[in-house]
Amino acid sequence: MLSSTFLSLSLFFLTSIATPAKRYDLDGNGIPDLCTTNSDGTASCLLSDGSLTTVKASTTIPVPRATVTLPDPVTFKKDNGTKWSIKYVGNLAFTDTLQAKGLGGDKCRSSKLGNKVIWSCGDMECKGGFTTCGFSMGPAFYGTSSVLTVDTTGISLVQSNDFVVPFSGDPKPVAPQTAFGMDTSNVAAINATHGVAYAFEIWRGASDGSFVNRGNAVVSVTLGNEKPIATRVGPLLTGPDTIQLGLLAILRDGDFIYTYSIGGPSGIIVGRVAASDKVFSASAYSFLVTGSTSTWTTPGSIPAASSKTFGMTTANSGGKFSCGAYGSVFFNTYLGKYVIICTAFENFTNMYVSATPFGPWSAEYGLLDGWGIGYGSMAHPEFSTDGGKTFHFSQGPDGPFNMFEVSFNL
Ligand SMILES: *[C@@H]1O[C@H](CO)[C@@H](O)[C@H](O)[C@H]1NC(C)=O
Ligand SMILES: *[C@@H]1O[C@H](CO)[C@@H](O)[C@H](O)[C@H]1NC(C)=O
Ligand SMILES: *[C@@H]1O[C@H](CO)[C@@H](O)[C@H](O)[C@H]1NC(C)=O
Repeated sequence: MLSSTFLSLSLFFLTSIATPAKRYDLDGNGIPDLCTTNSDGTASCLLSDGSLTTVKASTTIPVPRATVTLPDPVTFKKDNGTKWSIKYVGNLAFTDTLQAKGLGGDKCRSSKLGNKVIWSCGDMECKGGFTTCGFSMGPAFYGTSSVLTVDTTGISLVQSNDFVVPFSGDPKPVAPQTAFGMDTSNVAAINATHGVAYAFEIWRGASDGSFVNRGNAVVSVTLGNEKPIATRVGPLLTGPDTIQLGLLAILRDGDFIYTYSIGGPSGIIVGRVAASDKVFSASAYSFLVTGSTSTWTTPGSIPAASSKTFGMTTANSGGKFSCGAYGSVFFNTYLGKYVIICTAFENFTNMYVSATPFGPWSAEYGLLDGWGIGYGSMAHPEFSTDGGKTFHFSQGPDGPFNMFEVSFNL
């Protein structure tokens, strides 16, 4: 809440920092609030308790600049166990029947909308297969106060929490395919009550394992009483040959939703769209041009999967990110940087940092090495209570999700 202390602090910050940061921390919890700049010069900010407040831009408090500096990646590796550490803290748990029956699966992403944490997962079923508690190609649940526990109380069939589903008009699978697949992104907030998520629809379930790409879907996300609700806003946004929009991750930052997709010469293509109803229109997205750190295309179409024209920059060797398919992008207040977490070759979980949501990104920092197979590494920054000095990520696949805690002491 805004108090007189914060107001006077804000005057101090505004006079002591020549160019105030665009991020604001009105509730003083060390985590930037989500703000939209209004045309009249005010900012509407979503606080961590889910309430929305409108303030004059001049009365908001810039997030204090981070004072820590990450060493280079080679030194960082040597500093493992001293300046930073990583530890396995257990497996992600569910509650009630689905926990008793051993619910598991591919990947579970966390997001925040209003004051709720939403967990949206990949293919999920219980031990013993689909006869035990059903099967969902992407259920979503609410969180609890613990990063280690997802609230599945009262749910007996996992598909009762299906999240993104085919649109009524989407053509049905044709033999040999028998089923849909609906690979889904995390959720990004548009305002206190509505979020957005993306999915890539496929046909699958053929006896020979073949599948057919169908295209990108977008949904409006709202907070139902019992579960998060995804509403398809229309038919597919694209045909089958485009990038998988936002399937690496999505991020709300300032007035934009950023979409991160595998593709382009560097391995990651970033797009952006106004955080409004514009998200539902394929022609409203622009993309960062390869080799540039500030040139965005005029909003038009979503790039082809084969396009070489778009992509973010990394200082990594060969100019390529080592990200397999999925990951997370978030702002870490302790580092004062945007962070990408992803997995390469299912064996190495890496981190990249940048001063902006769209790069240029650092070379890769190794976080976890030699743990065995790790797939779909997903960060859970919603649960950091110490301004990001500590954060968690989980990774699968095909069963339990191992949870790791990363702590910095730079
Ligand atoms: C919140 O965003 C949704 C989706 O863009 C929009 O339809 C709705 O009107 C917005 N609500 C408010 C209060 O602005
Ligand atoms: C850092 O050390 C931990 C053990 O404390 C280990 O599990 C992890 O893989 C190490 N990270 C890297 C990148 O070597
Ligand atoms: C990845 O981990 C698996 C399981 O521990 C191992 O068999 C494989 O050789 C590793 N691959 C690489 C590239 O290190």
